[in-house]
Amino acid sequence: MNKSVVFAGPHGDEIELVCPRTRSPMIQKGETFVSVDEDGRGLETWKQENGFPDLVLGGRFDDETDERCRCYEISSNEYSTENFWIPLFKRRFKAELERGERPRILSVGCGIGVEVEMLCEAGFACYGIDNGNRTKDWPKRKFSSGLLLANAMHMPFKSDSFDAVFCGCVFPHVGVVGDSNITSETYLLDRQKLADEMVRVAKPSGLVVACSPNRMCPFDIFHGREAGSYLPRFNPWGSRFLLSIGDYKRMFGSAGCSKVESLPVEGFWGFVTMNNSIKGRLLSAPIKLAFRLASTRAFRFLRPSPFLPWVAVGGTK
Ligand SMILES: C[S@@+](CC[C@H](N)C(=O)[O-])C[C@H]1O[C@@H](n2cnc3c(N)ncnc32)[C@H](O)[C@@H]1O
Repeated sequence: MNKSVVFAGPHGDEIELVCPRTRSPMIQKGETFVSVDEDGRGLETWKQENGFPDLVLGGRFDDETDERCRCYEISSNEYSTENFWIPLFKRRFKAELERGERPRILSVGCGIGVEVEMLCEAGFACYGIDNGNRTKDWPKRKFSSGLLLANAMHMPFKSDSFDAVFCGCVFPHVGVVGDSNITSETYLLDRQKLADEMVRVAKPSGLVVACSPNRMCPFDIFHGREAGSYLPRFNPWGSRFLLSIGDYKRMFGSAGCSKVESLPVEGFWGFVTMNNSIKGRLLSAPIKLAFRLASTRAFRFLRPSPFLPWVAVGGTK
C-alpha cells in the first residue's frame, strides 16, 4: 500500500490526506495531489487554489458573502471562539494540555477560519475545511497551514484522525438549494452523510459537536436579518431548514456516537452588534437570559424548547 501524502499542519502537526472519492492514498506531484491505486497508478488529480489544497468533491457552496459580512463574522467568531469553543475544548482536553500535548481538532465548514486561527493560538492543532466563498479570507489568517478546501460530505482524511470535530451552523446549509433556506429532496441523506463523516474522522472516544439555530424556535436569530435591523427571521413551523436537538441526536446516534446530549449554549453569542445601542441591548436581554438559564443544570429542560433560539449538541464516538 502506498503511503499517502503527509500534510504539514499547524505547530508541526502532520496528517495524512486521502482521496475524498476513494479514500485511497494521495501523492504530491509539484503543485498537485494525485490519488493512486494499490499499484501506484494515478487515479485522479487534485489542484490547489490560492495555495490551499483543493479537494472539493461533490460541489461547492456558493454562499453570498461580502467584505461587510466577513467583518461582522470576524467579531462574532472571535466572541464564540473565546467564550464557547476554547473553554469547551480546554475542559475536555485538560489532562492532554497539562501533559504538553496538542489535541488535534477539525473545524467543519470553518468559513473565514477565525476559529481555526484562535484555537491554534490556544494550543490546539486545529484544521479547518470549507467549500464556500468565505475561504477567500484564508490568506489573511495567521495560522493557515491547517486549512483545506473540501466538501464535508467527502472528507480527505483517514478514519479516526481527530480528537474533536466540530461545526458552527453548517448543517442548515447542507441539503439546501444554493445559499437558501429551501431544503432539497436529498436533505436528510446529505445531512446524515455530513454527520457520518464527522464521526468517521473522529478518534474512538473523540468528541463531536454541532450547533445552529433551533428548529423548534419561531425566530431564527442567525440568518437573513436585514443590515442594521434587529428583527429576527420568522422560522415557519414545518420548515426543515433548521435543526432541533432531536434531529442532531438521531443523526449522530445513527452515525455511531454512543452518547449525544444537549450542551450549555452560554458564551456562543455575544450579540456584538446589538450591544452597540440601547434598543439592541434591551431587545437582546430576554434572549441572553434564555441562554443563561438553559445553560444551567436546573433549567436544561429548556434546551430543546421553542424558548431557546440556539442549540448545541455534543456526542462521544
Ligand atoms: C453560516 S457559515 C458558518 C461559518 C462558521 N462555522 C461560523 O460559525 O461562523 C456556514 C459555512 O459552512 C460552509 N459549508 C456549507 N456546506 C458545506 C460543505 N458541504 N462542506 C464544507 N463546508 C460547507 C459554508 O461555505 C460556510 O462557510
